[in-house]
Amino acid sequence: MIVLQLWLILLLYLYTYQTITYYPTDFLHTLSSGVFSEIFDGEVYKYYVDGEWKKSSSGKSVAIINPTTRKTQYKVQACTQEEVNKVMEMAKEAQKLWARTPLWKRAELLHKAAAILKEHKAPIGECLVKEIAKPAKDAVTEVVRSGDLISYCAEEGVRILGEGKLLVSDSFPGNERTKYCLTSKIPLGVVLAIPPFNYPVNLAVSKIGPALIAGNSLVLKPPTQGAVACLHMVHCFHLAGFPKGLISCITGKGSEIGDFLTMHPGVNCISFTGGDTGVAISKKASMIPLQMELGGKDACIVLEDADLDLVAANIIKGGFSYSGQRCTAVKVVLVMESVADELVAKVNAKVAKLTVGPPEENSDITPVVSESSANFIEGLIMDAKEKGATFCQEYKREGNLIWPLFLDHVRPDMRIAWEEPFGPVLPVIRINSIEEGIHHCNASNFGLQGCVFTKDINKAILISDAMETGTVQINSAPARGPDHFPFQGIKDSGIGSQGITNSINMMTKIKSTVINLPTPSYSMG
Ligand code: G3H
Repeated sequence: MIVLQLWLILLLYLYTYQTITYYPTDFLHTLSSGVFSEIFDGEVYKYYVDGEWKKSSSGKSVAIINPTTRKTQYKVQACTQEEVNKVMEMAKEAQKLWARTPLWKRAELLHKAAAILKEHKAPIGECLVKEIAKPAKDAVTEVVRSGDLISYCAEEGVRILGEGKLLVSDSFPGNERTKYCLTSKIPLGVVLAIPPFNYPVNLAVSKIGPALIAGNSLVLKPPTQGAVACLHMVHCFHLAGFPKGLISCITGKGSEIGDFLTMHPGVNCISFTGGDTGVAISKKASMIPLQMELGGKDACIVLEDADLDLVAANIIKGGFSYSGQRCTAVKVVLVMESVADELVAKVNAKVAKLTVGPPEENSDITPVVSESSANFIEGLIMDAKEKGATFCQEYKREGNLIWPLFLDHVRPDMRIAWEEPFGPVLPVIRINSIEEGIHHCNASNFGLQGCVFTKDINKAILISDAMETGTVQINSAPARGPDHFPFQGIKDSGIGSQGITNSINMMTKIKSTVINLPTPSYSMG
């Protein structure tokens, strides 16, 4: 009996040891569930075209580096330009039928995909933890938020696309009532969606949902970091039963397929979220609608009468969540000198409580996405140091992990006053008037969001009107959501407006049919 027990223990040990040795733990989750097995060939994730998971003919792959371990975590296909052509051909073909599919049926499929996605929040969340070092809890939240977003698209689409307009001609001078104009919204064709690394799933579905409900087909080019989470998400659409070719997901090197995709004649609309690349895309793209969200330097203006505990809590949430890697993060605090000491002390007390470490442990501050990003952030910090900023905490970095840092007495000659670190470092500029704060905010090239803290609603509204940003939050940190709110940047922060309703409208065009009647030759009495 004892011998048998020893054998069992030995077998269990060998099984566990081999499992841990040969398979990364995240693969275990996905492989053991079985649902995602067809997207992976045992070494490299496949790409999705014509309703099937395929390997690229290039025989090459792109490595995805885990920001925490700085080792290769996953590999995806390095697709070729010929494969892009094929994807575009399929997308164009599939769109024709999809546009004729009843709206309620499109909505039904989207609801199904949303449910499947939410069902698999755990394995998809795991990918986000490994690929982009998103804290585990936030990673799962991203997937759930994405499912909700897809369902909302379905419902909103049914409502707004189910309506059209009837115009009559005699409201314009010189016309009789002999023309009836019927207008409705029709799809654009093929939408190219390019989401960023920080919300690869959520900012992908914020493009996919509106595109599909509006009757478009969709080609997704995921970011390299976040590609595997995107592939899993796309598989949820596959499992929901969308028609072949309607959705494609193509992975690869930007240098090989980036321009080729964005300049492809088969693309009828581009929805992009990211950095400077968006500016280049908008210059190269042909005459098609563009939706661009390109970053920000969101200012937080703090007046003398503000509730400083509320401000401090929002600076922590707004400036340091996901280690500051959000386009809507608070990126500069403009505080009235008279309350600056008190505010800085309150924020510092909260910074001291932030946990720093790996995403698997749900740390508040996790490694930034890449070594080059960490180096860039360090460059901004060193520039501020040389020019005399006050370091409220000691600067500390290990690999891609940068400890949270609040920089006081930042002046306009420092790079950090203007540039977007996309990391856990936040500058404070002390101001002596509201005008000074507004001037700094408006002097930025960016104009995404901003926030103002005061108990005086009249002042808040006047400041909001004066701030040249797409959104101003009163008494709260900037944020994109809820996802049906309009979301837009001005200046270098983007083109167009997002949010579910705006995206559906943007991904359609107006079609008119005019009924012409003969001019009555008799009097109607
Ligand atoms: O990084 C850009 C995102 O659109 C920000 O979204 O405000 O929900 O974090 P969020």
